Amino acid sequence: MTTSSPPAPRRLTLRILRSLPGAGEAPHWQDFPVEEAEGMTLFIALSEIRALADPSLQFDFVCRAGICGSCGMLINGRPGLACRSLTRDLPALITLAPLPVFELIGDLSVNTGKWMRGMAERLETWIHASASPALTAVEAPMAPELAEAIYELDRCIECGCCVAGCGTLRMREAFVGAVGLNKIARFRLDPRDERSDDDYYELIGDDTGVFGCMSLLGCHDVCPKGLPLQTQIAFLRRKMALQGV
Ligand code: SF4
Ligand code: SF4
Ligand code: FES
Repeated sequence: MTTSSPPAPRRLTLRILRSLPGAGEAPHWQDFPVEEAEGMTLFIALSEIRALADPSLQFDFVCRAGICGSCGMLINGRPGLACRSLTRDLPALITLAPLPVFELIGDLSVNTGKWMRGMAERLETWIHASASPALTAVEAPMAPELAEAIYELDRCIECGCCVAGCGTLRMREAFVGAVGLNKIARFRLDPRDERSDDDYYELIGDDTGVFGCMSLLGCHDVCPKGLPLQTQIAFLRRKMALQGV
């Protein structure tokens, strides 16, 4: 009986778009060879490159578990999270580039926080209630189904993948993106928020809001948390169209 030896590990090439704004150097591709290991993610491969080949390589991460939303990048042209992308699901040549739309910090690192803060301020993504909450009062109960529906939309980690995959945002800088529309859908569901559909119409009833969306659903396809963006955008558009008549 012959025993077959395990296949030799693949030699990967990570082709990374290098750039450092303000350094006077044109963006350029740089190849890094990496030996694939069992269960390797792109985050692990990038960390290996930074530790062994080039400590100047910039990329972001915090949680390594798909929770913080820091490690979004273009992986073979598609927005995704480096920490949730297994190299075994990718070809041996992997191109990595920073997410477009956001301010570039350097290499694969972009400032999603600045964009998200601007969007949150523009859409006022907080509970609007006329009375301040009484801190000693017993918490008002909420139907479990409603709490679950709100939680479903609250799972957004603000990674920016939907923003980077959105055709409208390439043309219209002020568009609030699927992430912004999802937030409006979330607050609209929340009985503690006293805003009416008229108020929401003021926020998203134009082409920087729900009427700017071209419904090509790049956002829905790339969201790493599988949020129901398609359903929420369609629902909001119907509601806001009724407000506008
Ligand atoms: S469906 Fe709308 S929000 Fe989503 S990617 Fe397309 S234009 Fe952007
Ligand atoms: S909606 Fe999805 S893709 Fe967009 S920021 Fe939130 S988690 Fe990321
Ligand atoms: S490191 Fe937190 S989502 Fe990837």
